[in-house]
Amino acid sequence: MKKNKLKKLLIITSGGDAPGMNAALRAVLRTALSEGLEVFACENGYQGLIDENFFSFSSRQVANCLQRGGTILKTGRYEAFKEKATRDRCRASLEKLGIDAMVVLGGDGSFKGASLLESEGGPRTIGIPCTIDNDIIGTEYTIGFDTASNTALEAIDRLRDTAFSLNNHFLVEVMGRAAGFLAVDVGIAGGAEFILIPEAPITTASLVHQLQHRKREKLASIIVVAEAGHPGRSMILAEEIMSLSGLAYKTCILGHAQRGGAPTVKDRKTAALMGYYAVKHLLAGHSQQMIALKDEKIIMVPFPDPALGARCFAEQELLAINRLICEI
Ligand code: F6P
Repeated sequence: MKKNKLKKLLIITSGGDAPGMNAALRAVLRTALSEGLEVFACENGYQGLIDENFFSFSSRQVANCLQRGGTILKTGRYEAFKEKATRDRCRASLEKLGIDAMVVLGGDGSFKGASLLESEGGPRTIGIPCTIDNDIIGTEYTIGFDTASNTALEAIDRLRDTAFSLNNHFLVEVMGRAAGFLAVDVGIAGGAEFILIPEAPITTASLVHQLQHRKREKLASIIVVAEAGHPGRSMILAEEIMSLSGLAYKTCILGHAQRGGAPTVKDRKTAALMGYYAVKHLLAGHSQQMIALKDEKIIMVPFPDPALGARCFAEQELLAINRLICEI
């Protein structure tokens, strides 16, 4: 634990955007200012460090951002940051500005980059987990998940209106990277007949068999399909179902619309708490740590190792419960 006095703090958002990022960066800024720190921000994630997109960050710049989705600091995925030579250049620009600590809002890939930068002599870093996928190892919640779930649910409710009116069956594809968290929550809340997630794979033949032998015939229905690392896979699935059974399924890929929109109460509140604790932990001398949620409490854990992969959905009995409820 390094306890040297903290003076200049930098905030960046990195990776995919998530609703609630603005609430988190606002909390980081306001907490840091109240502790007497000088605060800077950088636009465009790690790419911005190379381009030296730094600016002095004040409370006025976060006015009216709480209710906005996305990130007012812009973000990006910057592959070149995996190379030491690129990180060396970033470190040099951070040193020039006198930055001694950094709060990174992003996912496991972004934290890996921050961790390497710090080990190589860069600023002390704390991460705040932000992704609609809720798939970061070490935390039970990531900022953006609740908003994205509610956005997807609203779309499903709308689809139900038209599916019921026209007797249509739908495959609704949701995001989630390689994990099924979004699909499960949205599927249960939306009354999906099936929820297809990578953690509980079934063959199309088995799905078709279950559709053909269901307890009661359904004139309209929804199956929620996790993208499972292959965006667009619901289109292929619809074709397979058709050729195996003649059952017609329309597809609706919710895509990037799930990432936008005003953050929910849960996302804003969690973001505010995580932002506050990120600064407090830096001031207490911690670094190379991620703020996390466990049993509804904010804690701090070591940065997750992306080599271990993403967190997977493990409560498979929820899928069975959903099947039972939908069958009756
Ligand atoms: O990680 C967030 C996420 O929205 C995933 O759910 C999705 O697979 C991916 O990002 C899409 O990334 P891109 O914006 O690069 O298409």
